[in-house]
Amino acid sequence: MNKSFGNDDTHLAEWLERMYAPEDEVLAEVRARSAAAGLPDIQVAALDARHLEVLARAAGAKRAVEIGTLGGYSGVAILRGLGPGGELDTIDSEPRHAEVARESFRRAGFGAGARVHVGPALEVLPRLVARGPYDLVFIDADKEGYPRYLDWAADNLRLGGIVLLDNAFLFGHLHEPPAGERATSIKAMQAVHEKLARSGHFRATPLPTGEGLAMGVKI
Ligand SMILES: C[S@@+](CC[C@H](N)C(=O)[O-])C[C@H]1O[C@@H](n2cnc3c(N)ncnc32)[C@H](O)[C@@H]1O
Repeated sequence: MNKSFGNDDTHLAEWLERMYAPEDEVLAEVRARSAAAGLPDIQVAALDARHLEVLARAAGAKRAVEIGTLGGYSGVAILRGLGPGGELDTIDSEPRHAEVARESFRRAGFGAGARVHVGPALEVLPRLVARGPYDLVFIDADKEGYPRYLDWAADNLRLGGIVLLDNAFLFGHLHEPPAGERATSIKAMQAVHEKLARSGHFRATPLPTGEGLAMGVKI
């Protein structure tokens, strides 16, 4: 029996994609319109979007922060998980990305529940403190920023709230000694795992998705 960490059988992955059909017409349209607008093809995978929605539902989350909006693909999934009356504050440093995302949220029927903030996350996050505490924080932006984004989440989640970190395996380089052009991002990602696993603020686990989705519950 295969009980290793994750499973990289592509046939099994294709079977699951067919079974769970995670990308509906709304998400497919967000992906296509983002590409047509020239945005990079770096949104979460369709099943990861489903993970976000289901985890938000499981947590009973109503208010969320996302760091790294892009065209709104993961944001739509989170808003679906928040349900009626849910509120998402999502941050991106690129005005063009924010513009595409606002349209995505409007088309998905979440125009009222989504606030897209433009600017570097470390400048925007302090302005969101007054709206907290939040139920969910999703981190999916520059890897060097992850440790400070996690600090913000530790301070601004309610007890029992969840933090989710995408690209938690750093494209397979997480465990390597920090060296070369990836040294800064390897150091940052190793540091954020240490905070998540050992700071005492979270009960955490690295979910073995393709990209790695680290998850912590604030304790
Ligand atoms: C991987 S993409 C986000 C994908 C998105 N979560 C999705 O799955 O649909 C990362 C985004 O973070 C933004 N970004 C990078 N550094 C940032 C920073 N310091 N502050 C805010 N946004 C940043 C980029 O412009 C980019 O749109």
